[in-house]
Amino acid sequence: SLPAVLDDLGERPLVIAHRGGKGLWPENTLFAFERAAALGVDMLEMDLHLSQDAKLVVIHDETLERTTNGQGPVAHYNLAELQALDAGYKWTADGGQSYPYRGQGTRIAALEEVFERFPLIPKALEIKVPDVGMEAVLCEMLAAYDQLDRVIVGSFHERSLKRFRELCPEVATSAGPVSVRLLLALNWLGLSDLLSPSYPVLQIPPEHSGLTLATPRLIRNAQARGLHVQLWTINEQPEMRRLLEMGADGLITDYPDRALQLIGRS
Ligand code: G3P
Ligand code: CA
Repeated sequence: SLPAVLDDLGERPLVIAHRGGKGLWPENTLFAFERAAALGVDMLEMDLHLSQDAKLVVIHDETLERTTNGQGPVAHYNLAELQALDAGYKWTADGGQSYPYRGQGTRIAALEEVFERFPLIPKALEIKVPDVGMEAVLCEMLAAYDQLDRVIVGSFHERSLKRFRELCPEVATSAGPVSVRLLLALNWLGLSDLLSPSYPVLQIPPEHSGLTLATPRLIRNAQARGLHVQLWTINEQPEMRRLLEMGADGLITDYPDRALQLIGRS
């Protein structure tokens, strides 16, 4: 059975705004989440790092250069310093001819602000750094902000997920990399029935290192084991259509407007 975070969403394929919809506006910002929510997305995906003063901040990279006017590692700054930066500084839709969000007051978000502003919309939270204590900080914050049944927590670091599940067993998680490899191997061997997943959600790319991961059989077998199959990062409508026809339960996309239009919800 699906976790409460997905229960409320019903049967429709989910449109999940990757980093808030980074093709449309500056990624991982409150501005992006506001606009994505207004479009009518089902879920907001975002990435987490820890500031020097141990606050969870919403940013994808370990360093500031790609998305902001700052420099160096996120972890070298406290929250106030990070929030003095311009998180819209590097966003461009025309290959660098224009930067429409520079100087518009777009800040790096603290996760607390996301919970305060968007208490109800489901969120996919990604722990980006293992071994720095993010799991405990996150678990405490989810409880404090009544978000335990409003989030799915994922990570590319299996030990981070293991730690998080120990601390926060009531929160839904997605498969870590080791679990994904096991699932793919069992599927390939025709032994999917042996799978007893400790996570309710599978988030994978359709292809990886030249291998096709998302096949009708994989999706069907994962769903038969109770998993909700979400694919990333799907930005073109023909691929969206193909994967939905294949049975995908959710699309994680930089262009949620395209997905909503495709399925007739805009
Ligand atoms: O859920 C994983 C998805 O977000 C893809 O990874 O690098 O965009 O955080 P990334
Ligand atoms: Ca992510």
